[in-house]
Order: sequence, then structure tokens, then C-alpha cells
Amino acid sequence: MNPKTYYIVTLGCQMNERDSQTIAGILDGLDFYPADSPEEARILIINTCSVRQKPDEKAFSRLGEWRLLKEQDPDRIIAVCGCTSQVATEEVCRRVPYADIVMGPRSLGHFRDAVLQRLEAPARQPAVFTDNAELIPEALPARRSRGVSAFVNITYGCDNYCAYCVVPYARGPEVSRVPAEIIAESRGVLADGYKEITLLGQNVNSYGRDLQPPMEFAKLLLEVGTIYGLERLRFTTSHPKDLSDRVLEIMATVPTICEHLHLPVQAGDDEVLGRMGRGYTYKLFARIIASAREYMPSISISTDLMVGFPGETEAQFQNTLKAVEQIRFDQAFMFKYNDRPGTRAAEMPDKVPEDEKQRRLLELVGLQNEIGRDLNQATVGSVFEVLVEGPDPKSAGCMRGRSRQNKIMIFPGSDGLAGKLVEVRATEGFLWGHKAELVRIVE
Ligand code: SAH
Ligand code: SF4
Ligand code: F3S
Repeated sequence: MNPKTYYIVTLGCQMNERDSQTIAGILDGLDFYPADSPEEARILIINTCSVRQKPDEKAFSRLGEWRLLKEQDPDRIIAVCGCTSQVATEEVCRRVPYADIVMGPRSLGHFRDAVLQRLEAPARQPAVFTDNAELIPEALPARRSRGVSAFVNITYGCDNYCAYCVVPYARGPEVSRVPAEIIAESRGVLADGYKEITLLGQNVNSYGRDLQPPMEFAKLLLEVGTIYGLERLRFTTSHPKDLSDRVLEIMATVPTICEHLHLPVQAGDDEVLGRMGRGYTYKLFARIIASAREYMPSISISTDLMVGFPGETEAQFQNTLKAVEQIRFDQAFMFKYNDRPGTRAAEMPDKVPEDEKQRRLLELVGLQNEIGRDLNQATVGSVFEVLVEGPDPKSAGCMRGRSRQNKIMIFPGSDGLAGKLVEVRATEGFLWGHKAELVRIVE
């Protein structure tokens, strides 16, 4: 073990990734360094996710491995951060009594002091930080992952309480960062050499309603999108109930904003959407997509879909399949519904049996994969702007990046292209994107 090192495992979504960057930044500030393995590290951090059962299980199994490391070396510090720590604090403390710190996402402002305290005196029981009413302080340091793209939070938490979802309990009520802080952080990452920014929030479209004076997401997009030196702007996640026409208009007019919309539909049946508490009908969703495609004919659309929500009948599931056929999503993240403790859906009757959920998921995945592949094959021959990330780990002599449509593009090229904007012509279409050939270097 190296006494000045740390190791972070991140589960879950981009919010957790961004939080892990903050944790790394705080530890850097205490003169700790990232370790290559958990065995080597003094401080072990896991940033947990509770959105479904699987990531929860993953966290506990990882923590089981770390118990042995702690027994070998009681000087080690184990921190369980993230959403599971917030929504299942007691379970974490019971199953991981050897944890030193148990901390929810809203309490990151205490991370530095919590570590310092543990470095001074060993713990008999975990120090718990789970006050969801807290505000995350501005100006926490960050060690961002290397690359071309940086995450910038615009809201914390969520107020929507969709019936199946733990996120509002895990991350607390929605709070918007003030535009000046978002713009300052964005300028900072551009000065550090990043070319692309992704704005993060659980529902970016409700950004700014809580500010004094209130501010619209569309206006924030315009302000960040026109910062000098920015090449690309992305944002996630959009919520159909709050996505305004104005946002689509700004996307279409500000050149840095990429032609990609991640818009989770969850289901194609109005009765199911109603019981999920999503606040829109399938018709409204389809209208937004039509409008987005009118504003930006080259836009790609990705979504999240869930099968087997309590009470979902075969006919209702068929409506989701129909929606997928009608919309023709470029990409979809597809899940089997999971009961999450404390949510409304967990208490609902008529649970769909596991094997039926599995059958529906497979059918949905089969259909969506066919559509995704077809769409990419249909654009073979077209030219795409790509921000090059680096060498493709799987194909020698090839570089890899993303198109504005957020598709992965792999093309023969030299390492010197990393970080550059190029144009490529698609030569083969796959589920995930294209193989391509270099046309020209834009800059
Ligand atoms: N804020 C985003 C999504 C956050 S969670 C939004 O509103 O869309 C990411 C995805 O996980 C969700 O879109 C949903 O499809 C899925 N998900 C959330 N809770 C789930 C549950 N209990 N079971 C299965 N999937 C779930
Ligand atoms: Fe969860 Fe709904 Fe909030 Fe998304 S909008 S994080 S699905 S409660
Ligand atoms: Fe998971 Fe928390 Fe994100 S529950 S999906 S890490 S907000």
C-alpha cells in the first residue's frame, strides 16, 4: 500500500462521474495521488448508484473485496459515496460496518474534512453525511478525466418523482446553479484544453425556474453555446414534459450545439405513462420529435425505455414497440423495470413476472437494434464532423471520435489527430456508429 494514494470506482450515470471528479480533485488537494489498483491505495472510494438493483449489488460485492484489504491494512480508509449511501444509509452501515465514511451526493462539501478527520483518528463506526437539504458548495476542485469532453453540472437533484425512480430521494430537490458559475466553470475547462462541454441535469429543461430572477434553459444554452473557444455543446437529460420549442430553435441556430437529443420516452402507452407520472402523452412526445427533426433534419434521437412497469399488459407493451417503430430512435437504453424501495411503483399491484419482463426486453432490444443499424447503414456515404478522442483500442492504426450526432466513428488515421475536428465519410454502418475514412482536417 502506498500511504498517499486513492482509488475510485464509479457506478451509475454522468452525475456520479462528475462527482467522482470532484472527489479526485479534493484528494489531489490533500496531496494524494491516484493509484493503479485498489490493493495499492490507502483511500478507497466507491460512488454508488441505486437506480436499479444491479449497480447496488455491484457496489456491495466490491465492498466485500475491500473488506479483506482493510483487514490486511486497517490504516486504509473506505468511503461509500453516491446514491445508495443516501437512499439505503442503514443498509450500507449494516453491511459495510468497516466503512469509514458513508456520504450522499449532496454532502460532497464535507468530503475533505471527513477524510482529514479519518486520517487523524481511526473510526469505530462510519461517519455518516446524508443531509439532502444541503447545497453543494461552488468552487469544489475537480480532476477531470483526460480527453476532449468535460461535464458541467447545471442542476442538482430532481423534483419530478416519477413513480419508479429513486433519484429524487438520492439527490434531493432540484436546485439550479446560477449562470455565472456555469459560465465560469465552462470557461475554465476550455482554458484547460477541452473542446466539448456536456451540461448535466436530471431534467435540464426545467433549469432556472428556481433562480431569482428565473431563467430559461434555452437562454443558458445560448449563453454557454456562444462562449469563445467552445467547439461543441451537448446536454443531458431532457424531459419531454418541459422541452420547449425555443430550446429546439436555439439548438438549430447556435452552431456549437450538437444535433443530438437524448429524450427518454420510457413507454409508448398513455396509461402506463400516466401511472409512471411522466406528465406527457405519447402523442406529445411524437410531436416534439417531429418538430426537432423539422428544425434539424440531421438530428439523432436517443431514448430510455422500460418494460414491465407494474400492470403493463401485453397490449400496452405492444404500444411501446409501435412507438419504437414509428419514431425510429438512433439509440435506446432499454431496461426491465425494477422495484426500488421507497418509490410509489414498488407499492403498485400487478407486478409483471421476471420471465415476462425478460421476454419483452429481448423483443424490444431486437427491434431497436435492427432500427439503429438500419439508420446507420442508410447514412453510409455521408460526411460527418468528428471530434477525435484518440486511438481506437480495438483497431490498430485507427482513430476514434464522435460525430455531432453522438455516434462513434472509427477511421484510419494517425495519433496526431487526437483533439482535432475532422470530417470523415461513413463507409460502413453498425449499431454503434460508423467505420469511416478521413476527408479533411477542419482544424
Ligand atoms: N433523469 C432521467 C433519467 C434518470 S435514470 C430522466 O428523467 O429520464 C435513467 C433511466 O433509468 C431512466 O430513464 C429509466 O429508463 C431507468 N430507470 C429508472 N428507474 C428505474 C427502475 N426502477 N427500474 C428500471 N429502470 C429504471
Ligand atoms: Fe427520475 Fe423522473 Fe427525475 Fe428522471 S425525471 S431523475 S426518471 S424522477
Ligand atoms: Fe444512479 Fe444516482 Fe445517477 S441512482 S443513475 S448514480 S443519479
